[in-house]
Amino acid sequence: MLIGIIGAGTMGTNHARVLSAMKDVDICISEVNEERCRDIAGTFNAKSHYFDHNEMLEKEKLDGVIIAAPSQFHKKLFLDCIRHKVNILVEKPIAENLHDANMMIEKARENGVIFTIGHVERFNPVISRMKEMVKELGEIYLVNTVRAGPFPKRLYGSPGGVLVDLAVHDADIISYLVGDIDEVFAHVIRTGSQEIYANVLFKIGNIRGSSEFSWVSPKRVRTIEIYGTNGMLRGDYHSQNLWFYENQDSAPNDAGHSRKTKNLFEDIILKGNVTEGRVIQHPIRAEEPLKLELQNFVDSISGQKPLVKPEEARKALAVALSILESGNENKAVKVIQ
Ligand SMILES: NC(=O)c1ccc[n+]([C@@H]2O[C@H](COP(=O)([O-])OP(=O)(O)OC[C@H]3O[C@@H](n4cnc5c(N)ncnc54)[C@H](O)[C@@H]3O)[C@@H](O)[C@H]2O)c1
Repeated sequence: MLIGIIGAGTMGTNHARVLSAMKDVDICISEVNEERCRDIAGTFNAKSHYFDHNEMLEKEKLDGVIIAAPSQFHKKLFLDCIRHKVNILVEKPIAENLHDANMMIEKARENGVIFTIGHVERFNPVISRMKEMVKELGEIYLVNTVRAGPFPKRLYGSPGGVLVDLAVHDADIISYLVGDIDEVFAHVIRTGSQEIYANVLFKIGNIRGSSEFSWVSPKRVRTIEIYGTNGMLRGDYHSQNLWFYENQDSAPNDAGHSRKTKNLFEDIILKGNVTEGRVIQHPIRAEEPLKLELQNFVDSISGQKPLVKPEEARKALAVALSILESGNENKAVKVIQ
């Protein structure tokens, strides 16, 4: 199988590293920075390299292509690729705006190609395990996430800043594990015109939540907590650890009967019946999420279904753009899906 990579910067280099180590996969590199292009192609033993992606698309018989150029070029590069009816993985965010995202989804459908997005956290083993366990939480009432780290200087001036770069990850995971965010209220801090920090309150129906997105933290933090009547699941994406904090008030009594069974939310949460119970750390087999994401893309080309649907990536973008709007206008904003 032959996969072309467009853009060999930070993320494209990671794609090249992981794909080049896969059995039965060859890579071609296209990168406008000629020195970097030669360098990355040489390091990862690429079959060929190009300074112009159109030349690569014309000359090579590609089974798939990865678009890892900056987000403002996603739409244009996607349209160039779709003319060659090649299967496409676009890095997150899917596009700069919902209009472009809709058009891309439609074009992929018309041309019958696989179209998936690099929402790499979907492949984090912690998230896969949480997906299996979330139904054991009882009635979910709260979700908290933190995604923080130092300022990635190369992204200075990118539209939406931290909100689009980081928020699409959490919006996608929250939707995958709990449900679609339908309203947001954001407090945003900027340096000049660049968004660098946001504190967001959100609603998913009756479920409440909060997210912190930060480019002003010297420590990289990526966590998610989901609270249900039976207890709380806390996942750490970075260290790939997962804990369950039991709510003792909903645990079975000594006779093995659940203490409250009728309406857990009313009986437990509204009456404040939450007490500390056992803390269970669930074993996670650590894996590089990007490796699993690219295996999924390669498997999709061979006939399996991609895990991340472009419509889901569009939803995540809709949430990020609503957060931006809320921060600009200082009011709650309904997310239009
Ligand atoms: N999934 C993740 O966790 C994750 C992490 C980082 C970045 N990203 C995404 O990956 C994309 C790239 O981000 P990055 O941080 O690697 O940026 P980057 O600036 O490090 O690299 C982008 C590269 O694309 C090249 N480029 C630009 N136009 C090109 C073209 N027409 N043809 C070929 N090469 C071209 C640039 O020269 C540069 O080398 C962005 O969409 C970003 O949001 C995703």
